[in-house]
Amino acid sequence: MASIDYSERIPNNVDLGSDRRLQRALEKWQPEFLDWWRSAGPQVLSTDEIYLRTAISTQPGGWANFGHVRMPDYRWGIFLADKERDRVIPGGDDAGKPVWHDVPGEHRNALKRIIVIQADTEPASVEQQRWLANTAPSLYDCRNLFQVNVEEARHLWAMVYLLHAHFGRDGREEADELLERRSGDPDKPRILDAFNQPCRDWLTFFCFTMFTDRDGKYQLASLAESAFDPLSRTCRFMLTEEAHHLFVGDTGLDRIIRRSAELTKLDPNGDARAQGGIDLATIQKWINHWFAYCLDLFGSEISSNAADYFAAGLKARFREAAQYDEHGARNQTKRLQKLEEGKLVGVDVPLRTAMNEVLRDEYIADCAKSLKRWNKTLADSGLDTRLSLPNRRFFRRQGLYADAHFDPAGQPIDAATWDARMDDWLPTDGDIAYVESLMKPVYEPGKMANWIAAPRRGINGQPLEFDYVRTDH
Ligand SMILES: [Fe+2]
Ligand SMILES: [Fe+2]
Repeated sequence: MASIDYSERIPNNVDLGSDRRLQRALEKWQPEFLDWWRSAGPQVLSTDEIYLRTAISTQPGGWANFGHVRMPDYRWGIFLADKERDRVIPGGDDAGKPVWHDVPGEHRNALKRIIVIQADTEPASVEQQRWLANTAPSLYDCRNLFQVNVEEARHLWAMVYLLHAHFGRDGREEADELLERRSGDPDKPRILDAFNQPCRDWLTFFCFTMFTDRDGKYQLASLAESAFDPLSRTCRFMLTEEAHHLFVGDTGLDRIIRRSAELTKLDPNGDARAQGGIDLATIQKWINHWFAYCLDLFGSEISSNAADYFAAGLKARFREAAQYDEHGARNQTKRLQKLEEGKLVGVDVPLRTAMNEVLRDEYIADCAKSLKRWNKTLADSGLDTRLSLPNRRFFRRQGLYADAHFDPAGQPIDAATWDARMDDWLPTDGDIAYVESLMKPVYEPGKMANWIAAPRRGINGQPLEFDYVRTDH
């Protein structure tokens, strides 16, 4: 069993010390990473003591150690889930054959591309969120933001390790470039669009951790089914950390919704904004925007790349090994809706080419579960209003539906209707300015901003009044 060695300069459970060349190369990257963290990571409370968890074992269950840490002293390292004995390739043409421990030459470029695209999202989100602590609604939330940030930075380490260990010189160059691109930079932007969007308010942060980190969960899960075993093991451990990020988003939105309902009922005109809250109509617009942006991250509905990756075993379906009996996905089709002359028509496409859509289906079903919980919160509050996910065709910028307009129910509409209704469905400049106007820091232990309800419990069994962030200096 691989335990984590914290006496090393780079904590790891991959026996880094046995490969001096690799160790030296990563020790050279380490100070560059720290420079990146200081200049592009959290810019607020960045040297205060934060109540953070650090991985101490990759075993399921007791892997986390909690304590107050200054973020620059956080022990970022390289942790892979333990090797599964006799693991076989889960899906594709070679399903059932032994997994690969090295990169096969013919898949080198594709695997490198897959890893770089995933890796790029990790530092990007830290950059997007670097000023958010300025307006934290509570110290509890501030601590959660920083926990997410340090773990996304660790995910960068996880991917950089794969690049250094398995892709030689161009892997090292890619690792350097991961520290050079910047979210939203016109000259050197991050690779994917959702990761260049600004994150200036906490409604956006919670939508991001709810919808964008959840996209990450599904991408990582499909890579956890990879024939390339080091990638699978890396992603399996990242997924255990990712669960907390999704919790932050899901419960953060639930708390805003709960508070919104309280303020709606409190106000004589049923206007949550008049009580300094975020009204449900505004929350719905944020959901519409972020859900649509994140659907784009899954790629085109019909994709020959997706088919090739599946065939080769580089990726597979969500829980391919556990959830399916048949792992070839040959001679099967999937029905998609296509727009032809203004009408939606069903077309059957080969299943392998529709693998992005198969993964998107899983994601949508997962998001729908959160909506159900939030609507339960609304029902419990006694309000009749309900929130919903827009249809997958709404407001897409990539794939089959990018060139036409659809309403939130997924029905095709013309450009004039879209222009007339857009402000009812998506955040307007006025909405954004309003939400930003509410963003004032609350740094007193146990206190919450007016627009968000308190969480049901603290972190790691601590009370809400706990000093999750020690700002006393
Ligand atoms: Fe991540
Ligand atoms: Fe995450």
